[in-house]
Amino acid sequence: MKAHEKCPVLYLEVHNEDGEPRLPLHTSVVLFLLSYCDCKSFQVSLVSRTPGNCETLETHVPNFLNVSHVGMEFLDETGRLCRAGLAVVLRHIINRTLEADPSRNDVLALLGFKKTCLKACAEVSKWTRLCELGIPYSVEGHLRNPSDLETKLPLPILALEQHLSEPVKVHNDDKIRRQKLKQQQQKEKTQGSSDCDLAQTNDRLELDAALAKLSFDADPQSAARESSEIRKVKTTELPTLEHVFAEGLYFTLTDVVLLPCIHHSLQTGTKNALNCLPHLLRWYSNVQEVPGVQRAAKACGITLVTPQPPSSSPSEPVEQHGPSSLLEREETSQQLQFVGGPRPTLTKLKENGIEAAFSPHPCPAWTLPWEQLPEAINPTEGKMSDVRAQRKRQQLNNLVAMVTELARPGNTIVDFCSGTGHVGIVLAHTLPDCKVILIENKEESLVRAQSRSGELGLPNIGFIQANLDYYTGPFDIGVGLHACGVATDMVMDPCCYGFIQNANKFSFPRSKRFQEILTYKEHMILCRFADQTAVQLPPERRLIGKQCMGLVDLDRSWAAEAHGYSVRVMTMEPESCSPKNNMLVGRPRRAEEGK
Ligand SMILES: *[C@@H]1O[C@H](CO)[C@@H](O)[C@H](O)[C@H]1NC(C)=O
Repeated sequence: MKAHEKCPVLYLEVHNEDGEPRLPLHTSVVLFLLSYCDCKSFQVSLVSRTPGNCETLETHVPNFLNVSHVGMEFLDETGRLCRAGLAVVLRHIINRTLEADPSRNDVLALLGFKKTCLKACAEVSKWTRLCELGIPYSVEGHLRNPSDLETKLPLPILALEQHLSEPVKVHNDDKIRRQKLKQQQQKEKTQGSSDCDLAQTNDRLELDAALAKLSFDADPQSAARESSEIRKVKTTELPTLEHVFAEGLYFTLTDVVLLPCIHHSLQTGTKNALNCLPHLLRWYSNVQEVPGVQRAAKACGITLVTPQPPSSSPSEPVEQHGPSSLLEREETSQQLQFVGGPRPTLTKLKENGIEAAFSPHPCPAWTLPWEQLPEAINPTEGKMSDVRAQRKRQQLNNLVAMVTELARPGNTIVDFCSGTGHVGIVLAHTLPDCKVILIENKEESLVRAQSRSGELGLPNIGFIQANLDYYTGPFDIGVGLHACGVATDMVMDPCCYGFIQNANKFSFPRSKRFQEILTYKEHMILCRFADQTAVQLPPERRLIGKQCMGLVDLDRSWAAEAHGYSVRVMTMEPESCSPKNNMLVGRPRRAEEGK
């Protein structure tokens, strides 16, 4: 998606299978949100790889949208800020809707309590990953092969069912839980019922609370105080709340993403399979009660159906441990207990002849002419302290030296995880014959980068707000300064080490030789201690930290070498410029041989 001055264009993908155009789920989700928001701030371009008759798609596009059909074209992103990836684009649609009409509280509420709904990128958040990638792609896969679904439900769907079955924690839920207790007690009195009935009779309370929040004329004072008997009950003894919507009690952007996905999987011959997912079916019917959802769906050609209540004799209960471990694996790996220090691991590597080794720096004294550079390039600009700015300049000297050595006129250089553009902007200024593209997930940072570059009038720079691994365009040189953890490994297909964990794309250790010697856990110990290089730590600890950092990067460099790169691991000059002072420089081996 690229931003024109006034009416930005939204490029949405169309699939063409056997000449039959079809909207992929990501496209359906975006159209559904536009419809729900009644958002007229975009021009929509439906993009197909192959030409086809797209008239059949018209019923799926809300009438108020201005739509054109285009083939694949190369966008020139120079000078523009483009946004890509489902979550980023959806959040931007919400932003635009609110900019146009600040009174849309229902749209604002989609961002959730802290306005962070789907903000953390899929690389770090299991929840974003599930909603943005897991569920849409698995449903997509099963739509293409409906027979699969008869036999096996996709794992992400099971994970969602498991999630919906867990109790909800919301901010300030005490009051709602006391109301729930009161209702339960009243029901018990009137019916004298057994426990098992109780579970089925209280299921409207959460939904009513959620819907009340949506109607903004609700008067918070009107709720009467509970009786003292109810007020005295300890919080820990109050009943828990059930999921009404995907993130708890309130309707958010995640529900918008999930609705077209779950709807489509219900539409295929999978009804039977999904019938053993009672929480998902209840969610599907709750969503339909949200004002505006039915209308929005209809405008996109989606006819929501009333789900059949699960058959009285429940079929095979859903396997409990599978999906739950799917969602939790990540958390447990973050919380791995590290017993003991890194020495056993270091010793094990040493016994196998592996030790950290650093290549000499080719130009330790090289520096940019900082005094002559425009203000907006110099990292003194902004609120950085003098010492920090000095170190930043030293880090940039190292990076720019390496890139300058590699760059040829006409090259495209991508700055992954660009932040506010310290690296990318210096490069665009220093190498006017190259094009520089900044990729960053955090909107605020990228907007700042764009305005700094605007001040400088740089003609050879572009900005993309996206997860770095969504970038599929061609490039000659990729750089990253302190790209966090897993991101470093993506940039090489340098920085925090402790954050490394098994992401959706990689397994660790990366290289074959390390894999033969170290377990995942032993490798994580290296990463964890590689993070302990801060200046305030005792020198002994920092030395070990530097060794670990060298080994993690050695593993990375060997993995890259297996893919045809020759890689040098170096220490930036001066060493004090950053506690994370390792620098990896890789180049395709063939290019080097040709020199
Ligand atoms: C929309 O995004 C811009 C740029 O990040 C931000 O400054 C603005 O406050 C946002 N508007 C709303 C209504 O959230």
